[in-house]
Amino acid sequence: MKIVKKIDDVRKEIKKAKKEGKTIGFVPTMGALHNGHISLIKTSLSQCNFNVVSIFVNPIQFNDPEDYQRYPRDINRDIELLKKVKVDLVFVPSVEEMYKERADTYVEVTGLSNVLEGKFRPGHFKGVCTVVCKLFNIVQPDRAYFGWKDAQQLIIIRKMVKDLNIPVEIVGCPTIREKDGLAASSRNIFIKEDDREKALSLYKALKKIEDMVLKKGIKDTSILLEEGKSIIVKYPDVELQYLEIVDFEDLSPVRKIEEKVLVLGAIKLPYVRLIDNIIIEV
Ligand code: PAF
Repeated sequence: MKIVKKIDDVRKEIKKAKKEGKTIGFVPTMGALHNGHISLIKTSLSQCNFNVVSIFVNPIQFNDPEDYQRYPRDINRDIELLKKVKVDLVFVPSVEEMYKERADTYVEVTGLSNVLEGKFRPGHFKGVCTVVCKLFNIVQPDRAYFGWKDAQQLIIIRKMVKDLNIPVEIVGCPTIREKDGLAASSRNIFIKEDDREKALSLYKALKKIEDMVLKKGIKDTSILLEEGKSIIVKYPDVELQYLEIVDFEDLSPVRKIEEKVLVLGAIKLPYVRLIDNIIIEV
């Protein structure tokens, strides 16, 4: 496994792999790897014969500087994990390498970026799209792997790739959950054991909504959301930021469930913000 820090070195390795006729699989990450990342990497390994992982905590996607500072980082552990799964190339650029001079060019998917997460994290998706577009230009992958855990991110990246004719196939992979159902996330390490139940309230709300649709046939989203929200508001120090049922393709709010929908939410415990979602197909 090669570990490189410079864009030019990535280009050299990719050029060589492409010359050998290899299919390039790419998993962009911000490190602090967990089972969700490992599952993306394993899918990439099963479909591609040259597999690249990037580790870069992208400053321009954090709307809160404190969140950027305290984002978990453990590069040595990450590298050991990647060695075990047998990735070919790890790209670990510095901030200076990615943003050599002041960046004046951004990539923004309008509309989709301003709803749901976008309302609470202004500029977040602009930062994500800009860095992912840069990484695609550097790695030039045939396929790139993203988790459904960040459903809005995945939908926005698909739209960016389509709109900008970027020649890469975006592969969406299922959310990986911990034993009790909590969606795997780098931020889970912040959750105190005593707060576990509170952290799980969002997933419980999502599951309740799923049950009501699939077992009781309730399709009116105002009834479903009211029931879901009632589970979360039981915990006074859990702030419910949003819980919404939206169209699977364009994220527009849905009043009655008739097609595939996404149920997405975000909660804030005093010291950590968590997001989760489920897909319901009737
Ligand atoms: O999902 C993430 O970890 C990040 O948003 C990504 C896609 C690596 C871009 O920085």
